[in-house]
Amino acid sequence: MQKKEINRVVLAFSGGLDTSVIVHWLKENYDCEVIAFAADVGQGEDLEPLPERAEAAGAADIHIRDVREEFASQYVMPALKAQAVYENGYPLATALARPLISKHLVDIAREYDADAVVHGSTGKGNDQVRFEVSARALAPDIEVLAPVRHWELNTREDEIEYADRHNIPVEATAESPYSYDRNLWGVSIECGPLEDPWNRPPEEVYLWTANPLEAPDEPEELTLEFEQGKPVALNGNKLDLVDLIEQLNDLAGRHGVGRIDMVENRLVGIKSREIYEAPAAVVLLEAHRALMDIVLDRDVYHQLQRLSPKYSELVYNGLWFSDVRESLDAFVNRSQERLTGEVRLRLYKGSAVVNGRRSPESLYDRSLSTYDEGDEFDQSLAPGFVRLWGLPLEVAGRRRGRQ
Ligand code: ARG
Repeated sequence: MQKKEINRVVLAFSGGLDTSVIVHWLKENYDCEVIAFAADVGQGEDLEPLPERAEAAGAADIHIRDVREEFASQYVMPALKAQAVYENGYPLATALARPLISKHLVDIAREYDADAVVHGSTGKGNDQVRFEVSARALAPDIEVLAPVRHWELNTREDEIEYADRHNIPVEATAESPYSYDRNLWGVSIECGPLEDPWNRPPEEVYLWTANPLEAPDEPEELTLEFEQGKPVALNGNKLDLVDLIEQLNDLAGRHGVGRIDMVENRLVGIKSREIYEAPAAVVLLEAHRALMDIVLDRDVYHQLQRLSPKYSELVYNGLWFSDVRESLDAFVNRSQERLTGEVRLRLYKGSAVVNGRRSPESLYDRSLSTYDEGDEFDQSLAPGFVRLWGLPLEVAGRRRGRQ
């Protein structure tokens, strides 16, 4: 491929050491102008110091966008409706935010007539895949650069030394051994002592959840209301999605709900120990599932359950902007047209347990299921049904008898 000239780039900027060093490195290696971009995806970090840091690092301009609403409604919602949970544990917080960030990078690149977008991910992870595949899907004519994959700064010390040498101010905070990525849908934590999968996670790694052992001794009941698969109210209060998720993170986090400890399979073939905190995600996925139990037709429900692992793989593997994801969404959305109703749960020392569900669209029919008074199920229909249902096995049994 012919190498395009790079005059101006847009960088996904966090204000941390890596992306600050990247600003300078890009200018040095490409002699280009660097536009920084930072998104508020609900990470709960202060973004106010970012413009100053971007400028100090040498960026020509910075854009900060609050994309929480877009993230919640267009990325988190489809994933919740599809019950997308990677390898039975990870609700995909990081994986869902990357395509959104790429979309805005590309958007700003167009605005500035930039030649490339830049991310700070390494060559060993999933995030590089998500950033790049998403950016190329949306803008095949724009380059994607990933300096961390080929620069000569191999350790944190190298980066600090580089920053000092080039007068890039870096925060002198005590270095945490952990790597964090956060947004509305959860916190992802890696590195340090977690790299030994036998090590119990030190209590200090957790940012959003109480230790279940120290969580309140009183359980807390809550109700969630859904309309067409979308959570719309918490404890009777109508809330927009962002507020609902944020409040639920608080509420469930206080009870130690949402801690996940797993070893997962990265797309690049590496197994990786991960800690996640996803209080709202865990509660909403549970509640949503419980509502589907009563509302969805059996076959539709089973089909959705088959598609969930596929959906989560697509998201995990960076294929958000694909026809297949959109096609699956079409099925999922159709399946949730009647998914309206309420679920109640109890939060207690790390668990969120559903203990009630109701819906005007419920298919649950007590006159059919009851063993008490009011039974309308005609049991005389059962013998023929059961006999024919098992007929193939009966025939096979007769063959075995002959042999
Ligand atoms: N393993 C998760 C994923 O691939 C989280 C990665 C988070 N990155 C981080 N810097 N901690 O989605």
